[in-house]
Amino acid sequence: MIKPLRKAVFPVAGLGTRFLPATKAMAKEMLPVVDKPLIQYAVDEARAAGIEQFCMVTGRGKTAIVEHFDIAYELEATLKMRGKNAELANLRDLQMPPGAITTVRQQEPLGLGHAIWCARSFIGDDPFAILLPDDLVMSEVPCTKQLADVYHETGGCVVAVTEVPHEQTNRYGILDIASDDGRLVEIRGLVEKPKPEDAPSDLSIIGRYVLTAGVIEHLARMERGQGNEVQLTDAMAKMIGHVPFHGLRYEGRRFDCGDKVGFLEAQLAFALKREDLGPQVRAFLKNYVNA
Ligand code: G1P
Repeated sequence: MIKPLRKAVFPVAGLGTRFLPATKAMAKEMLPVVDKPLIQYAVDEARAAGIEQFCMVTGRGKTAIVEHFDIAYELEATLKMRGKNAELANLRDLQMPPGAITTVRQQEPLGLGHAIWCARSFIGDDPFAILLPDDLVMSEVPCTKQLADVYHETGGCVVAVTEVPHEQTNRYGILDIASDDGRLVEIRGLVEKPKPEDAPSDLSIIGRYVLTAGVIEHLARMERGQGNEVQLTDAMAKMIGHVPFHGLRYEGRRFDCGDKVGFLEAQLAFALKREDLGPQVRAFLKNYVNA
């Protein structure tokens, strides 16, 4: 029997050094794309995939992330008094059912695999999604929903994948492909950040995963991998052959918001898509291009 997917883990303990000084006193996951923080895009995406329980793996200085999903009682009362109904409705959309969000702390930056292992009590025996808020996906069907739909058919593990330029394989988890129907890929192996000359393909994992709880026992060994960190990719690789393991070429566009250029591109792409902002942004952009 395939257990329904109801849980998601959000690793948000990273320091955000690439965005200093903006992230000196503020969590990088609170950086807004247009008017919504990155973490909210990720949580909204998870909710749209039927996720009901959310676990944030946080660290020092990250309390604003959890505050963001709390009820801001005074703020709501003031908006109500002033008749700001649209703003109020916007805040109410954010509201989570009581008890839906849990936090655990990752006390030391020992890697993504270690962050996920920190959520082991939350995960228990259940399948779970992982969303890395740095990766923002613009798509018709939310990316995690696309993964969840495949998972509910195949069971096992499903990760979102996309082709990257060959010289960039050293930035991502890379797939060794057993078979490929153009959409769904059967995975034979996974390598974390291989040099282009060692990469088994150009197909990379983006920050969206659906995994079974079995990954925890591999993470628990705390074996260090690339960058001397506990790598999620290495633990996932050990599950191949024991559970179904697929890569999904998701429909949509991914923006790497952990990178300045990717973050700026996301701002423009999301603003251009908005009915209230798109025309104005398109108009002023003309002043900058071909200059
Ligand atoms: C992490 C993973 C990597 C994956 C990437 C997606 O790397 O370790 O396998 O391809 O996220 O964004 P990071 O970006 O944390 O270095």
